[in-house]
Amino acid sequence: MPLVTNLLLRHSVVMCLLLHSLVLMAFCFHQDATSCSKSCYCTGDEFTGTTVRCSHQGLTEIPRDFPNDTRRIYLDFNLFTRVPANAFVGLPRLTELDLSHNEINQLEPGAFRGLSPSLHSLSLSSNKLVKLNPEAFEGLWASANLTNNPWHCDCNLQKALPHVDLEPASLAGIVCHTTDPEDSRVQGRAFLLAPDIDLCAVTKRTTDVAMLVVMFCWFTMVISYLVYYVRANQEDARRHLEYLKSLPSRQGKSEESSTISTVV
Ligand SMILES: *[C@@H]1O[C@H](CO)[C@@H](O)[C@H](O)[C@H]1NC(C)=O
Ligand SMILES: *[C@@H]1O[C@H](CO)[C@@H](O)[C@H](O)[C@H]1NC(C)=O
Repeated sequence: MPLVTNLLLRHSVVMCLLLHSLVLMAFCFHQDATSCSKSCYCTGDEFTGTTVRCSHQGLTEIPRDFPNDTRRIYLDFNLFTRVPANAFVGLPRLTELDLSHNEINQLEPGAFRGLSPSLHSLSLSSNKLVKLNPEAFEGLWASANLTNNPWHCDCNLQKALPHVDLEPASLAGIVCHTTDPEDSRVQGRAFLLAPDIDLCAVTKRTTDVAMLVVMFCWFTMVISYLVYYVRANQEDARRHLEYLKSLPSRQGKSEESSTISTVV
């Protein structure tokens, strides 16, 4: 009997140790998993750098816990609607960022802050981008894929262009879905690369008309003031003239009085 209990005891000690190491291992693996981003998986090593894959995960918010040595991030085929400011700070080695096939309609100012100069490829293809906000791309000299978005082309977009820091070839991806004013030459084209089209021309014309009207009003006011001034002065001048006419007699009197005073 004591032999059996002894055996059991030893057995349980071994079991206990095994369990312990299992728990420890699980803990270690868990640690490893959190060093990559949640719901993403990471590959790579020191030399190739980390690649984080989070495609097709149904994510609605951009994860914030990427390892700081990440070189490539794939966030395509998720449900993001916006890219908030500073979404990717602390990733000094990131060269490639794929945000294609989402529902993104808003890029906040500074959305890609901190990614320059390492980032050279950014995909925003197949999203819901309508307006171009240059502040979102501040300081980002990267090649961006902006194709397959419902771009709205108007004077604002045209004016925003010189302020966009992206590699100029990226602008070929801005193909107009809607336009203001309606212009059949613009629809379905990368109008930013068509130098013959000026969507600000109509706005310019209306501002020109407004300027003319304002100038006309001013002119009328100045003329009426002048007329009023001349009229008022004429009245004054007439009165002054009458005063002058009445003057010689008075002057005579005063001369008389002065001669009297000298005589006295
Ligand atoms: C990442 O962070 C660790 C410590 O937090 C630091 O030692 C390392 O230099 C960082 N790597 C980069 C690429 O910034
Ligand atoms: C942009 O991305 C789409 C897929 O999302 C791809 O088919 C296309 O070739 C890319 N365009 C450029 C210029 O890289």
